[in-house]
Amino acid sequence: MTRTLLTQARIATMVEGAGLIDRGCIAIEAGRIVWVGADGPAEFERWPQVDVGGRLVTPALIDCHTHLVHGGHRAPEFEMRLNGATYAEVAEAGGGILSTVKATRATDTDALVLSALPRLDALIAEGVACLEVKSGYGLDIETELRMLRAARKLGALREVRIRTSFLGAHAIPPDFAGDADAYISQICLPALHAAHDEGLVDAVDGFCEGIAFTPKQIGRVFDAARALGLPVKLHAEQLSHQGGAALAAAYRALSADHLEYATAGDARAMADAGTVAVLLPGAFYTLKETQHPPVKAFREHAVPMALATDCNPGSSPLASILLTMNMGCTLFGLTPDEALSGVTRVAARALGLTDCGELRAGLRADLAVWDVESPAELAYRIGFNALSQRIFGGAV
Ligand code: NIG
Ligand code: FE
Repeated sequence: MTRTLLTQARIATMVEGAGLIDRGCIAIEAGRIVWVGADGPAEFERWPQVDVGGRLVTPALIDCHTHLVHGGHRAPEFEMRLNGATYAEVAEAGGGILSTVKATRATDTDALVLSALPRLDALIAEGVACLEVKSGYGLDIETELRMLRAARKLGALREVRIRTSFLGAHAIPPDFAGDADAYISQICLPALHAAHDEGLVDAVDGFCEGIAFTPKQIGRVFDAARALGLPVKLHAEQLSHQGGAALAAAYRALSADHLEYATAGDARAMADAGTVAVLLPGAFYTLKETQHPPVKAFREHAVPMALATDCNPGSSPLASILLTMNMGCTLFGLTPDEALSGVTRVAARALGLTDCGELRAGLRADLAVWDVESPAELAYRIGFNALSQRIFGGAV
């Protein structure tokens, strides 16, 4: 059985309310953490040791909202927006999500995997050990399945855990323009069942927005998810207030994501439902949004806040979880501690995972060792990666 004892570690366990452990040890056995603390039982002293020299050790990071797998890119749209077009205007002009749908439909599984790998590698290089990947750029049954297969393949090619979300209700494809309900009946729900049959779905997501689906339409997708025993999450209140956050709470969603236009009432409903608020500062920044998510209300109602890249070709072409933490602090006013818990403990919860995101006995030994003194340094620097070592499933 593989055993390792990390010694001389400055440990941010990210267990709620716990502080730092100085000069601590972490005992790892068969890919799991078996002990964390200042002075371990004497038996550990005979284990193979890795001295991390006083460096900071955190749980490996988790990116709980990405659209990592997609065809093509949308640099021309970036230029349109720089010339004043809004996200909604670009979408209405046939750009936006639908232009990526076109590119993704024209890309086979291997090419989807190949194009996603550099983005995945960038995240791994920053200490990410688990990330969520969504479908949603197929909007036909075959391409939705292909995206999810590509996502699963990424997990087989790299030392990383991939969680997949089915996002068939992301946009209305041109052939169903004006008839979102027919799209849901004829494509989205059959695609969900086919993907579930293939074991490709860990959660079901949707986009509740004026340019996408109404709460009632998303409710149909969530009912299907519920019947399959799948958890749900939702892109909600990103560009306007549509009632998505309340809907997510009503379905006890794992998370509601974006939330710039969410209200204090939404925060209360999410708190009651145990729904995590996933904040996506990369999209806020890219779209030059001015409406801030109600962070104060989330704090007041004790809604757990996660942070994620939303890595996608349009609204958030961001493949850095460290920059996301910095943006969460600078743009949304999170504390550095909230930013770190947002990409560890709370991000795990947003994915329904109970075996990662903290450093304590029984959890997976997915760790990041950083060449910094304090946790705040991770969020503070811009464009700088202080990762020293990444430990995945106990393997240093
Ligand atoms: O999370 N909001 C909708 N979906 C994505 C955007 C996808 C895109 O622009 O391609 C998001 O921001
Ligand atoms: Fe998204």
